[in-house]
Amino acid sequence: MPAETIAFASDHGALDLKDLLKMHVEAKGLKVLELGTTTTDSVDYPDFADAMAQALKDGRATRGILLCGSGIGISIAANRHPHVRAALIHDAYGARMSRQHNDANVLVLGGRTTGPEIAKECVDIFLSTDFEGGRHQGRVDKMSRAPQG
Ligand code: RB5
Repeated sequence: MPAETIAFASDHGALDLKDLLKMHVEAKGLKVLELGTTTTDSVDYPDFADAMAQALKDGRATRGILLCGSGIGISIAANRHPHVRAALIHDAYGARMSRQHNDANVLVLGGRTTGPEIAKECVDIFLSTDFEGGRHQGRVDKMSRAPQG
């Protein structure tokens, strides 16, 4: 079975953390797809959220990791795409819940808010935790529909 591909995208506010996490994921034997940005030039985080959404839609990656300075802007932008469930995570509990209850397909971290060891722990949990399904499935399905009312 080919290795799963994990896409990475960020703005300029999280380059160092993104590079560290890419190496961490590659060391697990997974493939990494770099969607930018790759320089410290100031860029607009919605463009990179959109690049992530496209990579997931066209199958170039199965899951993704997004970062910006706080993680807030890029998670708001990513969640405008109905097939994206992006979870802004700060700790291990959140990382676990994002998979077990929400079937998150994108982990979001803040390069200016989350340290490297916590970030690596969140990535490990995000990548290794299964969705529980059951009562959570219907709730996740509702999020993929157009808003009612
Ligand atoms: C960029 O300075 C910063 O605003 C961005 O990385 C992010 O924190 C926005 O939510």
